[in-house]
Parts: sequence; C-alpha cells; structure tokens
Amino acid sequence: MSHKIAVIAGDGIGPEVLAEGVKVLNAVSKLDPEIQFDFTHFPWGCEFYHKHGKMMDDDGIEQLRQFDAIFLGAVGYPGVPDHISLWDLLLVIRKSFDQYVNVRPIKLLNGAPCPLKGKSAQDINMTFIRENTEGEYAGYGSWLYKDKPHEVVIQNAVFSRVGCERIIRYAFELGRKEKRSVTSVSKANALNYSMVFWDQIFKQVEEEYPDVKTASYLVDAAAMLMVTQPERFEIVVTSNLFGDILTDLGAAIAGGMGLAAGANLNPERQYPSMFEPIHGSAPDIAGQQIANPLATVWSASQLLAFLGYPQWAERLINAIEHLLVEGKTLTPDLKGSATTSEVGDAVVAYLQANYA
Ligand code: NAD
Ligand code: IPM
Ligand code: MN
Repeated sequence: MSHKIAVIAGDGIGPEVLAEGVKVLNAVSKLDPEIQFDFTHFPWGCEFYHKHGKMMDDDGIEQLRQFDAIFLGAVGYPGVPDHISLWDLLLVIRKSFDQYVNVRPIKLLNGAPCPLKGKSAQDINMTFIRENTEGEYAGYGSWLYKDKPHEVVIQNAVFSRVGCERIIRYAFELGRKEKRSVTSVSKANALNYSMVFWDQIFKQVEEEYPDVKTASYLVDAAAMLMVTQPERFEIVVTSNLFGDILTDLGAAIAGGMGLAAGANLNPERQYPSMFEPIHGSAPDIAGQQIANPLATVWSASQLLAFLGYPQWAERLINAIEHLLVEGKTLTPDLKGSATTSEVGDAVVAYLQANYA
C-alpha cells in the first residue's frame, strides 16, 4: 500500500535528523515492497519566514489535509520570535488537525545511558499521554495597559469537558489494552479551576475502568518521583504544559533528548497525524552533522505502527537498541563519534542484515 507522507524538515537540526528518518522509511519500503511511501517535502520554517514573511503557505493546512501522515523535524530558530514560528507552524498543525493525543514513550532501552543510580530498563518504561490541543496552550489571553506601569498580561488556559474526557479515556483504553496502570498528573491544590475539573473528570472516567489500576499525583511530586521512583509510572495522562515539561525530564532519564520521540495523533483519523522527535532545532549543534537522529527514527517507528505495520515499528526499535548496546555508531550526545548520517546508515544496515 502506498502512503502519502508530508515531510516538514523545519529548522536547525530538523533537516539533518529528518533526512535519516526518511532514509530509514525508504529502507523499510525496499525490504517490504508492500509498504510504499510517497514523500512530499515542504520548505516551511524560519528560512521560509525570512523570504516570505510567513512560516508556511497561506493554504498550508489545506495542502497538508490530503496526506496520510506528517513527518516533522523541528521548528524555531533564533531570528524569528519563538511564539510566532511555533504558533504559525507546529502548533497550528496540532490544533487544525485535532491531534489531541500526544503519545511520548519514556522508555529506557538497553544500552541507553541513565543518570539515575541503580535504575535499569525495567524501571523506566512509561507512556506519556499528553493532552495536545487545549489546556495551557489554548492560545488566548489579553495584554492590557501596554508599557504602562500597571501593565497586566493574562494567559488563559482552557479545559473543556470533551477535551479532558477524550484524553483521559484514551489513556484508560490503552491501560486496559496493555494491562498497565494509568496515572493522572495534575495540580488541583493551586489551580483551583482547571485542575479541580481535570481531577473530577479523571474520577468519573476511572469508574468505567475498574480493571485498570490508577494513581494520581500533583505535578511537583510527580517530577520528584520520576527521578526517585520511576518504576511507579506506566501510562501517564496529563495536561499540555505539564506533559511538555515532564517529557523533557523523562527524556533526560531515558537516554537524553536525542532518543525521545512523539506522535501527535488524531485517533479518529479524520485528519493526518504528525510524527516528530520531541526535541527542538538545537541551534547550539545545528549544521555540524552531530545531532542524534535516533529520536526521529523512533518517531518513524510510531508512524509505521499508526499506519498499520507494528512488526516494522518493532524492528526499528530493535535497530535502535542494537546500536545502543553495540555502542560503535553513536553521536557525541551518547559519547560516540559518528555523524548523524552514519547513525542513519547503521540503522539501515541493521534492518538489511536482519529483516531482508
Ligand atoms: P532543544 O531540544 O532544541 O535543545 C536542548 C538541548 O538538547 C540542546 O543542548 C541540544 O543540543 C540538545 N539536543 C536536542 N536534540 C538533540 C539531538 N537530536 N541530538 C543531540 N542533542 C540534542 O531545545 P531548545 O534549545 O530549548 O530549543 C531550540 C529551539 O527549538 C527553540 O526555538 C524552541 O522553541 C524550538 N523547539 C521546537 C520543538 C519542536 O519543533 N517540536 C521542540 C522543542 C523546542
Ligand atoms: C514540544 C515543544 C513544543 C511544545 C514547543 C516548541 C511549542 O516543546 O513539542 O515538546 O511545547 O509542545
Ligand atoms: Mn517540549
């Protein structure tokens, strides 16, 4: 079957890591001719902004609508204010295509470095289910009395019943399917509207899933426990901002930003879903061919799973784990000296050697 994939490489290391993701998907398709990809590359991002005064074409969302999936590198670069670059490209895609589920595996693979003393692969195996279209990222607010001494800025968070219920339900369905516990992370002690509401809905949905074990933590305590007792967490459901922050913490305990992947899903498949590493454009290392492309390969694995190829999804993870255990072809963030493209080649070589 042929799948139309929109490729938005974006900024900084985005094009470097995404080239390897596309390389790996092409290798899969060579090894399994049943799977075909029809890639269309979009030159959108900060350079596009400098040329055209916008982050994407005016009808960009319309152009993307016809694709089966979007494969994205990273967005944002010094020279364009971050709130413009991100809202006009990445965040508008998540919202327009109602990609309300952000699945971020925080899983320590064998061979990946972990800064936590005494913790190994079986202790760190979480799946974050981050709400991805509303909450603290609703994008509404007001800026009053600009430049006056009594200037006030209000940033509104929006938690709708539908929005909370569907993300929490998604986590419970996954928990039931995988026989894993579901942990809610919130903050009702201080956020006396939004998080009280979130907790209430979690309790309501929980009652429908008596077979699923649950836990609930305040976000500050959750951050602490992820470091001291990561084995407590299996599936974690949380709001947009909390999920953003905790998954960078998660990346740090599971091998680093170079290994952390995410899928932005529209589970009903009304619109395309988007697959991307969770890291940014890393301006500090951009253009040097030293960025780790394995997070992008992991998101390619999520893409394959979503398109209906779980076996290939697993094979990509096997390839990543093989590289980590072998330790010969890794980028400098993992104490290796390989280039970005050599790591992509090594993934392809593993797939060819094992699954031809
Ligand atoms: P970042 O994730 O780009 O970088 C943080 C640190 O991690 C840097 O030291 C970087 O070198 C390192 N790092 C990240 N990815 C790596 C990789 N694949 N291999 C090796 N090292 C890696 O975060 P930042 O510096 O806060 O943000 C830079 C820009 O990216 C900003 O404009 C930000 O808004 C944007 N951003 C975009 C996305 C996205 O597109 N999804 C995500 C996060 C940040
Ligand atoms: C991420 C990023 C984005 C987010 C930014 C760049 C808007 O940090 O995907 O984790 O906060 O969602
Ligand atoms: Mn983030």
